[in-house]
Amino acid sequence: MANSLQAVRGMNDLLPGETALWQSLEATLRAVLGAYGYQEIRLPLVEKTELFARSIGEVTDIVEKEMYTFADRNGDSLTLRPEGTAGCVRACIEHGLLHNQTQRLWYIGPMFRYEKPQKGRYRQFHQVGAEAYGMIGPDIDAELICLSARLWRQLGIRDVVLQINSLGSSAARAVYRERLIAYLSTRQTELDADSQRRLHTNPLRVLDSKNPAMATVIAEAPSLLDHLDADSQAHFEGLQALLNTAGVAYVINPRLVRGLDYYCKTVFEWVTDTLGAQGTICAGGRYDGLIAQLGGEAVAGVGFALGLERLAAMLAASGYPAAEAPLHVYLVLAGDAAQHAGLALAERLRNEAPGLRVRMHCGGGSFKSQFRRADASGAQFALVLGEDELAAKTVTIKPLRATATPQLTLPVDQAIAYLQAAMQNGHP
Ligand code: HAM
Repeated sequence: MANSLQAVRGMNDLLPGETALWQSLEATLRAVLGAYGYQEIRLPLVEKTELFARSIGEVTDIVEKEMYTFADRNGDSLTLRPEGTAGCVRACIEHGLLHNQTQRLWYIGPMFRYEKPQKGRYRQFHQVGAEAYGMIGPDIDAELICLSARLWRQLGIRDVVLQINSLGSSAARAVYRERLIAYLSTRQTELDADSQRRLHTNPLRVLDSKNPAMATVIAEAPSLLDHLDADSQAHFEGLQALLNTAGVAYVINPRLVRGLDYYCKTVFEWVTDTLGAQGTICAGGRYDGLIAQLGGEAVAGVGFALGLERLAAMLAASGYPAAEAPLHVYLVLAGDAAQHAGLALAERLRNEAPGLRVRMHCGGGSFKSQFRRADASGAQFALVLGEDELAAKTVTIKPLRATATPQLTLPVDQAIAYLQAAMQNGHP
């Protein structure tokens, strides 16, 4: 037998038993984003490679080693998007959405990173992102954080902590970068291989190291918050004041630096310790320089993205109710003639009783086997169209769950009305 094909490592199927939870999660996300006046934008999965190199940064892990990059038949270098911010900015510039106007946008969809797969970390994963443009103050940062906090409340998620930090302006960060390099150089023998490599390319990322052996070096490093420019300092204080007013709890984590280069001023992450090593469920920040850097006007940007696999895992563990809506009717058919009448009846039921979930038996078989399927389908009623019913223009309604209710044979019109009433009277 030929080898059976399997999915690409780190890219998961979402099976029917799991999709109800995802649909419910997505519906909540859409509702909350709508409640804040954010509009959906749909973006391509593939962009020119250059877009990511110029936005995420040449010396980030994502661009250096995690992108799915390929040449198309024309020889152009394209990349499966590793995140959504760059494409969103590209689209807004391209379509003039940032000229003299503010925008509040969101997107949902798969992202691709060639990372080492493990629990909570996949090569194809899904994000919902929110991005806001044209607003320079901390008010919009606070709004985005309030929005995410509301998401957790609506989803019943409690075990998350908000960490915030400020990266300052790019000028202030450049000064800090030199001081950090000078400091880390004095501790060079204590740096692990990753940090040695980053020392001159991306020293701020050293602060993000999860290696316990690096903890002391990092703890004793100069703090970014001591090097903030006055504008960033005021912005950061403004954000904290707004979060205090809104009653959103946070911790300041001066080592929070993020893995993408486009950030300035505010950065934040929502972190849980219930998911093991991959505990960040949502992350983002301000990127005021990115739009001009990609050829647009000098417009401010801020946003976040959340990881749907991680959220879904948290919800599944917390017993989040997400059952598939059960069927109301399973249509059992006897003989060829019933097949024609059955198809018409099923369509009529869906026309005249909107909301009724009807599955028609296909593929023939004995009554007995069809009833077995009807039972296993979870449907409330089997609707039977046999020779007698066809001749009399009736159908038989056989309750499959509530044994107290008798079986009935009714003219088709009355049967439809009966099922409609049963549905409205609280049958699921
Ligand atoms: P990010 O931190 O790279 O930021 O990703 C955001 C979230 O996506 C993470 O916190 C995590 O929940 C999820 N995530 C990332 N990588 C994986 C993976 N390999 N497997 C599963 N989940 C993952 C961004 O992508 C920025 N674009 C966020 C942003 C939007 N900043 C401003 N606007």
